[in-house]
Amino acid sequence: MGAPVLNFDFDQPLDRTGTHSLKWDGCLSRFGNHDVLPLWVADMDFPGPLQVTEALIARAKHPIYGYTIAHQGVYDSLINWTQDQFDLSLQRDQILLAPGVLASFRMALQTFTAPGDGVILQTPLYAPFQLAIHANGRVPVENSLVLENIDGHLHYRMNLPHLEQCAALGAKILVLCSPHNPVGRVWQQDELQAVLEIARRYQLLIFSDEIHADLIYPEFRHIPLAQLAREDDRLIMAVSPGKTFNQPGLGLAALIIMNDETRARMLSVMTDMTTHNPFSLTAWEAAYRHGTTWRNALMLYLRDSREQILHAIHQHWPLVRPISPQGTVLIWLDCRAYGLDDRALQALFVETYHLGLSPGIQFGHAGSGFMRLNLATPRQRLLAAIATGKPRQFQQASPHSQTLC
Ligand SMILES: Cc1ncc(COP(=O)(O)O)c(C=O)c1O
Repeated sequence: MGAPVLNFDFDQPLDRTGTHSLKWDGCLSRFGNHDVLPLWVADMDFPGPLQVTEALIARAKHPIYGYTIAHQGVYDSLINWTQDQFDLSLQRDQILLAPGVLASFRMALQTFTAPGDGVILQTPLYAPFQLAIHANGRVPVENSLVLENIDGHLHYRMNLPHLEQCAALGAKILVLCSPHNPVGRVWQQDELQAVLEIARRYQLLIFSDEIHADLIYPEFRHIPLAQLAREDDRLIMAVSPGKTFNQPGLGLAALIIMNDETRARMLSVMTDMTTHNPFSLTAWEAAYRHGTTWRNALMLYLRDSREQILHAIHQHWPLVRPISPQGTVLIWLDCRAYGLDDRALQALFVETYHLGLSPGIQFGHAGSGFMRLNLATPRQRLLAAIATGKPRQFQQASPHSQTLC
């Protein structure tokens, strides 16, 4: 096992079974098999910052869980976080708390588009966007990313001329995923500027999903779109501590909207909606206030995991071409050389390696022949599975015997 990074032991497996974990307890229904290491849905197998657990326990000890105010401290914790991390200054009235990123996207669809309107997706892309568009009678307009081979390394870039054509045909919203799930790109300033300029020319509203913005590998830098946008740009930027601090089950996000009219319209559909509860607010504030050291240690661990996993894949899976992520905990694997259909590809990883990955086809046609691997797990069991085709049995610690950080 590797040395603990800055006193956080990310190598220690923690048994999540029996916690109604979607990722772990959902294995049988998803993969037809209990005996898989689940590497699919994007949550992590690491305990989050100890301060979050302590704050939640302290709050739970008061036995009345009534309607709760999102007090100034909740806003200040996000304002300070975005200032420190991204040098982005926010005002409280530019922040709308929301029940989650996807729920917010559905509200934005209903607020800013009509049935039959086009919504641009840069595919392959996190699947629920497409589902939400169909469910609301809107039309997905596919602006596929371009996969290039640069000096032997696979690399995705945006197809900006095609994006402009989609906008010119009258699409109403562009979904930007920044950094991008599943391909792991951290978009550069020139790419983001070009997207903003196209949006301005065609009055596109941009829904910028930045839920993975704090999971950036040390050699890259995330630029929040709000930092480049003007006040008259129609931009909804969605952020959340859910992915960053491994608390996605608590379900609280924020929409950052600088433009007054866009914000007023969004607010009008959110009035009376329960966006938060005493636990989501408590965890939010504790994480943004006290989570920096934990997050920095996490990214060092994940960087080492990424390097070791990429190396193991090159050594043991010669038919797989992994794309090294710049951000997110996800590795996008080009498995087209197997020549298998998508169902057979998933079965190959389950049956031979006991690994439960997400099939790329879920992310749109552009993902056919690919698989997505979530690397946010103690790395030894995963490395063993890649190397041997049969994972070793690991002694898992009981959650009650864990020191939480
Ligand atoms: C890109 C992206 N957006 C949104 C979500 C879900 O966000 P929420 O749970 O806040 O709806 C996920 C979860 O995996 C995601 O990867």
